[in-house]
Amino acid sequence: MARPKLSIIGAGNVGASCAHWAAVKELGDIVLVDIPDKEGVAKAKCLDLFCASPIEGFDCQMVGTSDYAETAGSEVVIITAGLPRKPGMSRDDLIATNVKIVKEVSEKVATFSPDAALIVVSNPLDAMVYTAWKATGFPTHKIMGQAGCLDVARFRAFIAMELDVSVEDIQALLLGGHGDDMVPLPRYTSVHGIPITQLLPADRIHACVERAKVGGGEIVKLMGTSAYYAPASGSVQMAEAIIKDKRRILPCAAFCEEEYGVGGYFVGVPAVLGKDGVEKIIEIDMDAEERALMDDSVSHVKDLVATVTEAFPELV
Ligand code: NAI
Ligand code: 2OP
Repeated sequence: MARPKLSIIGAGNVGASCAHWAAVKELGDIVLVDIPDKEGVAKAKCLDLFCASPIEGFDCQMVGTSDYAETAGSEVVIITAGLPRKPGMSRDDLIATNVKIVKEVSEKVATFSPDAALIVVSNPLDAMVYTAWKATGFPTHKIMGQAGCLDVARFRAFIAMELDVSVEDIQALLLGGHGDDMVPLPRYTSVHGIPITQLLPADRIHACVERAKVGGGEIVKLMGTSAYYAPASGSVQMAEAIIKDKRRILPCAAFCEEEYGVGGYFVGVPAVLGKDGVEKIIEIDMDAEERALMDDSVSHVKDLVATVTEAFPELV
C-alpha cells in the first residue's frame, strides 16, 4: 500500500524541522516545497535528511521541489511559508507580507490536494489560518493552525523545570490566540494527576504562565530569529494525529462558531484530531477570570482578521 503523502510548504527552519520530525516518525512520504530560487535548498535538505535514514532507520521518500504538482494527493499539508520575526518585532508585524504568501501557497495547495487537511504555522497564526481558509474554500474542519501544541509544550517544559520532574508527567491546557495574550490555565494543569496548585506556590505558577506566554519572544531575543524545533514538533504532532486517525485531543487553532461564543473565527481550543481533521471541539468550564482572559485573546484575533480583510477585501 502506498504511504500517505505529507507536504510541507516552506523549506526554512520550521519547514525543514517538520520534515525531520515527520521522517523520524515515519509518517509517510514527504514533499518539501519552496520558491524557485530556493528549490536547491529544499532538494538539499531532503537529500541530507534521506542520508540520515540508514543511520536512524526510517523509511520514507523525500522530494524537495518548487513544483506543486509534486504535492498532488497529499493527506496533510503543513504551511510554514513566510517571514519569521526578528528581535523587536511582534508576530503581528508580519501580517502584510505573510498574508500574500499564505494566500498564494494555499491556493496552489488546494489545486493539487483538494481533500488535504491543512495545518497552518505561518504567523501571525490566527490570521493566517483564516487567510488559508478563505483562499482554499476548504471546509472548516480541514483547516487548523498550530500554536497550542507548542505553547502548551512550553508551559509543560517550564513547570517541569520548576519542579525538577519529568516533562512527561505534566498535563496542561491552554486556550486563545497565538499571541502574548494566550491563556494558560493552571486550574486545568496537573502533575501525574496532582493539581499544580498542590505542588507549587501561586507566585511560581504565575511565573511559569508568564514565561510560557512570551516563550517565543525569549528565543527570538537569544538567537535573532524565531524558534523551530518545538514549533515543528507541535505541527508534526497534529499531522500524526490526522494521518494515523489517532483522535488525539490537542490544543489547536480551530474554527469556532457557537463554541466558546467566538462567532466564526479560528482560535486555540482543545480539539479531537483524526482522519477528518478537527472532528470535535471540546468546551470546558471557565471561571470569570479565565473567561475575561479568553475574551481578550479572542478580541485580539478578531482585530488581526479585520486587518487582513481591510487590506485584502477578496478574503472577506
Ligand atoms: P524561514 O525564513 O526559516 O523559512 C521560511 C521559508 O518560507 C523560506 O525558506 C522562504 O523561502 C519560504 N517561502 C517564502 N515565500 C514562499 C512562497 N511563496 N512559497 C513557498 N515558500 C515560501 O522562517 P521559519 O523560521 O521557518 O518560520 C516560518 C513561519 O512560521 C514564520 O511566519 C514564523 O513566524 C512562523 N512560526 C510560527 C510558529 C507557530 O507556533 N505558529 C512558531 C515558529 C515560527
Ligand atoms: C513562536 O512562538 C514565533 O510563533 C513563534 O516561537
